[in-house]
Amino acid sequence: MTLAEEISKRRTFAIISHPDAGKTTLTEKLLLYGGAIHLAGSIKSRKTQRHAVSDWMEIEKQRGISVTSSVLQFDYKNFRINILDTPGHQDFSEDTYRTLMAVDSAVMVLDAAKGVEAQTKKLFKVCRERRIPIFTFINKLDRYGKIPLDLLDEVENVLGIRAYPMNFPIGIDGKYMGVYDRQKNRVELFAEDTTHGQSERISEIFAPDDKIMINRIGQETFDALQEDLMLLDEAGEKFDKAKIDAGDLTPTFFGSAMTNFGVQNFLEEYLRLAPPPAARISDDGIIEPEDENFSAFVFKIQANMNPAHRDRLAFIRICSGKFERNMQVWHAPTNKIIKLAQPQQFLAQERQIIEEAYPGDIVGLFDPGIFGIGDTLTDAAHKFKFEEFPTFPPEKFARVSAKDTMKRKQFAKGIEQLTQEGAIQLFYPVGMGNDSYVVGTVGTLQFEVLQYRLKSEYSVDVSLTMLPFEVARWLKFDGGEKVTPTSLKGANRGMFLLDRAENPVLLVENEWALGWIRENNAKLIMSATPLED
Ligand code: G4P
Repeated sequence: MTLAEEISKRRTFAIISHPDAGKTTLTEKLLLYGGAIHLAGSIKSRKTQRHAVSDWMEIEKQRGISVTSSVLQFDYKNFRINILDTPGHQDFSEDTYRTLMAVDSAVMVLDAAKGVEAQTKKLFKVCRERRIPIFTFINKLDRYGKIPLDLLDEVENVLGIRAYPMNFPIGIDGKYMGVYDRQKNRVELFAEDTTHGQSERISEIFAPDDKIMINRIGQETFDALQEDLMLLDEAGEKFDKAKIDAGDLTPTFFGSAMTNFGVQNFLEEYLRLAPPPAARISDDGIIEPEDENFSAFVFKIQANMNPAHRDRLAFIRICSGKFERNMQVWHAPTNKIIKLAQPQQFLAQERQIIEEAYPGDIVGLFDPGIFGIGDTLTDAAHKFKFEEFPTFPPEKFARVSAKDTMKRKQFAKGIEQLTQEGAIQLFYPVGMGNDSYVVGTVGTLQFEVLQYRLKSEYSVDVSLTMLPFEVARWLKFDGGEKVTPTSLKGANRGMFLLDRAENPVLLVENEWALGWIRENNAKLIMSATPLED
């Protein structure tokens, strides 16, 4: 197969949802179609397997939310599909953003009874910034749900994206019996369910005016459907591929992941409409996936993913050329040539060593501690850097120290490694010795994860004291003089710190305090993210 053929069969997407909307169930069902997992096993032991499929961390099981994002790959018909799971919690929107950097489209799962929920809004916002095509799956159609037109309205008004229903639920007052498929002009009804949702519900297909079907659903429901469809045709959005590609129109599917209703159709339509791997922006211009020279970037680092393998993995997205095991590549940040040994891909919880991979693919690399988020890897003869990852300014801060001072070493090691993963930002209080740190995060949940992981992976109990600050500013004086606690007027109104590169950072409580500092320090330059020299 040529490189262009390999690229055209790849689809790489992120899946986002408010917790409990059905992201895990839908992912499982998609894997099922790819033959990656088996129906019986997955359904019988759902309770235990549900998290095992895509969640690694123990804390996720305890809290019932997905904290880290994971990566799964499967084949369906002639396609190679990479699914990137995203954390459902808003505190991890930075992690979500990085995951979205690595994909070409996104799938948003909504609960038909709940519509657009709080986390959906936050995750969608992050998604929208990437301007990628977004596909919507409105789940749990097998049970009571909101009025379909209201759900579409909600997507449009709350999220601000136009919605084009690819199919439309049949039923009155939120009790659905199936869908009308607008693309195929046919009716699909749930088959009678005798298993209380425990097994696949095979659907029955009818022509749109089939008498038996009308009998089954009843004249009143049939008439209501006709009315809704007419309304959609006249006043609804028109199907427009260009708008879908631009992320302005979301093809919307109604279905039920648990009972498998509409999942296969969703998968097939998604594959038909979603874009293959897209070009990426670099400091050497646009990099097309068909470019023969290999390139990739790191979008995620995960330490200790599996307690059985005490190691760190750097996840790369391949952007151009062919990846081969043991290939030598140029690592932009260190300007060194490195060998990519032990490349891995993930099938459910299984890791497999791979020999080759292509643009769109996600590969996990063993990381001896050299990789950082956003690092570019290229062919040694064609060096360039991909555009930088945006960083999210931290908004929550805590002082962290090891409860047992004898464990200082493990503590320092653990906290440094977790910082490299990009989940927290580390600061050093000036003149406070080196056994306590200030940690900055975008949300409070990260502190729990930090505490939990330091305990479970490094055997360190930490004490954590929340600080009353919400704003961090990197500082420098225009003209070059270094900012110090004494040269900065009002440094004692906040907390003066150094970041890992020893750049001065000031934490203050609010914008008002910041205004005071600004007014009283002429020539001070302040930035919410690290300043360039
Ligand atoms: P998440 O990853 O988005 O957090 O959601 P997840 O798939 O874990 O699903 C959350 C709950 O919703 C699960 O129920 C799941 O079975 C149920 N669910 C998913 N899809 C459907 C659907 O199409 N119809 C219905 N009726 N329910 C659905 P649970 O009670 O929390 O777990 P379990 O007892 O089913 O394992």
